[in-house]
Amino acid sequence: MSPAIVNIAYLVAASLFIFGLKGLTHPRTAVRGNMLGALGMLLAIVVTLLDKSIVGYGVIFAGIVIGGGIGAVLAVRIQMTAMPQLVAIYNGFGGAASVLVAGAALFEIMVAGDASPIPLDAQFSIATFASGLIGAVTFSGSLVAFGKLQGLTNEGSVRYPGDQIVKIALAIVLVIFGVLMVQYAGSSAPYWLMVLVALVIGVLVVIPIGGADMPVVVALLNSFSGLAAAATGFILYNTVLIVAGTLVGASGLILTMIMCKAMNRSLLNVIFGTFTVVDDGPSADEVYAGKVKSTSPEEVAMLLSGAKRVVVVPGYGMAVAQAQHAVRELFDILEEHDITMEFGVHPVAGRMPGHMNVLLAEADIPYDRLKDMDEINPSFKQIDCTIVIGANDVVNPVARTDPDSPIAGMPILDVDYSKTVVVIKRSLSPGFAGIPNPLFAADNTLMLFGDGKKMVEEMVKCVKEELG
Ligand code: TAP
Repeated sequence: MSPAIVNIAYLVAASLFIFGLKGLTHPRTAVRGNMLGALGMLLAIVVTLLDKSIVGYGVIFAGIVIGGGIGAVLAVRIQMTAMPQLVAIYNGFGGAASVLVAGAALFEIMVAGDASPIPLDAQFSIATFASGLIGAVTFSGSLVAFGKLQGLTNEGSVRYPGDQIVKIALAIVLVIFGVLMVQYAGSSAPYWLMVLVALVIGVLVVIPIGGADMPVVVALLNSFSGLAAAATGFILYNTVLIVAGTLVGASGLILTMIMCKAMNRSLLNVIFGTFTVVDDGPSADEVYAGKVKSTSPEEVAMLLSGAKRVVVVPGYGMAVAQAQHAVRELFDILEEHDITMEFGVHPVAGRMPGHMNVLLAEADIPYDRLKDMDEINPSFKQIDCTIVIGANDVVNPVARTDPDSPIAGMPILDVDYSKTVVVIKRSLSPGFAGIPNPLFAADNTLMLFGDGKKMVEEMVKCVKEELG
């Protein structure tokens, strides 16, 4: 195939990736964006296969059937709450692929010598080092992240004396192997030794990070998998791989920074610090004793039937309870009776970026009713009733009031300013940050204790009876 045609096809594929990413920035255009990105990838793969007939089509077909089959089964069977670990394992496989491709390219050069189509130059050495290093760290780090998120290993932070010194020592060993790779270019031993050390570093970097911070780490590892792929693109002289890898690398990094900002933490704090619960904060007894008022679905239905504007704030518990379809029913019945219902969505509600948006979109809640934190916050004073479903930290006012709290400074949804707040959760147990929430004991808060889905379903029944 002529190089001009290949390059034009790659340019079209890269443009499709960029338009795809643009589409993914809004729920309304997300499905189209996903399709555009997939189309770009299909075009890139077909053109690459037609251009380079190194591997037989039988092997390629077998790879597509096995890989596509496993991917399809996983995509259909995976629970929304298990999505972070699925992404983690995908990132890991991406990193492993980069390590293997770089190793295979090195092997090819060793076997073919001067006849190899890939020149043994500085670009090759640097790109092989980067691909092997970043790919191996991504692979082993992602496996640890998967193990933590899946509950297979200790989910908390695992630390040992001198852990930072060990990591620095290993980083020096890595540099030494990098120098050896350049000195003995064409020999694969330094490469595989370097990969081995990078695998150990990947494990050591991720095990001290608490399981609850893992979504941030998964986003960072996603960025790394893209950078490893981009480095592999430099080995193979494949422009579309460089572009796609760089886009994944940049978007993963942007996502990581957005998550850190929404949690009011720095990336360094997530990677080198631990998410600790302060001991000297008020105990649950001090915060709640004698102040918590519980309510019933009937009472909430009466409140709702007298309201004009209602806001629902979903959190991790809504995902656990799978309450989104019941919420949609509540939305329909209230809107039928001219009671406006909106949704206040916090950027880190749940356990992965966009978690709440995905669940609400699944239940066909109109997108224009989903309000970002900055958009909904000024309205809370005018809201008659805010229903918090399985959210805790993202509505905890201590973020505003207690500078010593682990969530101090984290922007929150100001639900406590509404006229009445109804909180649906099963108990007074804390959320991800492990701290009590004074919202549950506030004068204008009523606690509806129970499973999110069951409680909303009962509320729907009562609202129907109330409004006729
Ligand atoms: P959380 O603070 O984790 O609180 C979730 C609440 O849901 C719990 O208090 C739990 O109380 C309740 N719950 C669990 N199962 C339930 C069920 N079946 N029915 C009703 N309630 C149920 O959640 P959040 O407010 O969404 O905050 C998210 C937290 O995760 C933040 O601290 C954030 O920083 C962190 N985080 C998020 C992300 C992303 S990207 N989203 C990434 C990293 C960290 P009960 O057990 O009493 O029911």
